[in-house]
Amino acid sequence: MKIRSPIISVLGHVDHGKTTLLDYIRGSTVADREAGGITQHIGATEIPISTIKDICGNFISKLSIKDTIPGLFFIDTPGHAAFTSLRKRGGALADLAILIVDINEGFKPQTIEAINILKMYKTPFVVAANKIDKIFGWESHPGNSFTQSFQEQAPSVQQDLNQKLYELVGELHKLGFQSERFDRISSYASQISIIPVSASTGEGIIELNAMLLGLAQEYLTQQLEIHENAPAKGTVLEVKEETGLGMTIDTIIYDGVLRTNDEIVLMLKNEILTTNVRSILKPNPLEEMRDSKKRFQKVDEIVAAAGVKIAAPNLEDVVSGSPLRVINDEEDVKKEILKE
Ligand code: GTP
Ligand code: NA
Ligand code: MG
Repeated sequence: MKIRSPIISVLGHVDHGKTTLLDYIRGSTVADREAGGITQHIGATEIPISTIKDICGNFISKLSIKDTIPGLFFIDTPGHAAFTSLRKRGGALADLAILIVDINEGFKPQTIEAINILKMYKTPFVVAANKIDKIFGWESHPGNSFTQSFQEQAPSVQQDLNQKLYELVGELHKLGFQSERFDRISSYASQISIIPVSASTGEGIIELNAMLLGLAQEYLTQQLEIHENAPAKGTVLEVKEETGLGMTIDTIIYDGVLRTNDEIVLMLKNEILTTNVRSILKPNPLEEMRDSKKRFQKVDEIVAAAGVKIAAPNLEDVVSGSPLRVINDEEDVKKEILKE
């Protein structure tokens, strides 16, 4: 039995800072080579626990965090109104979520939609109250913890921030959630933590990562147990045509192992497709899929959690959001029986 990284979806209204936040987390890790690199996945980024602990420094030792999970696996989702279904998939897939709200704009339609998705799937989440650097009079201290930065602000700026936070608390209350600034929480089980951050300056990212890690270790380890030799289970994020590969599916594998030639089942609009994995493609290390030319690396197998592109025959009509399951072939079943 192995524990995989929790899948953490980043949700929120358009332009509230989801991608910038993940870029900051990625950037700070890439810069910190000694702490170990990140793993790039299709549509996702995995940060090893050692790196997260390094980013969090003292803050994490205060929380007495154990070493059970291997890292944090972040999925970005688009905030645009047209992408409801992709947000739903991100929400359904997530073990944990970050709801990003621009602290200066407050709740917007896609913020509320995202909360309803999280509610529907009972996904635990934290709120990142982003763009604190844009609060009038805010003096930025790049890379600092929120706690340190906050202490350096003028009293009127501190009041302004707290006022804006209470507006968020009020909005969450209307939707049925109790919430509080993370450092004033009395019960993590019943209150949502709000962490003030700036995805641009990195202020508060320490506490955000620490909260995620704490919640994951405290509440999720059981659901993160995977079966390394079991047939893969996953979810299709996107169906895409790629030059030289034909139709492909971008998938998050959250349990088991996926191998080349595996027989898989997927959902079409009104029926089930059975096909065989022709190739499994991983993004090259430290490179963003969409930016680089040598984007993929072929691999024979991958173990969850992983974000991979899969090429296979007849993928044209696969629906985004489809589950993916590997069918155990007869040989495997025979071997299993022989072992017993
Ligand atoms: P969609 O994917 O389109 O929904 O947007 P998003 O939520 O990913 O927002 P994105 O990261 O693209 O940021 C939108 C804009 O806000 C960009 O111009 C960012 O530079 C800016 N931005 C994001 N976070 C911050 C922040 O903390 N402070 C400031 N000043 N600007 C920010
Ligand atoms: Na944007
Ligand atoms: Mg974005």
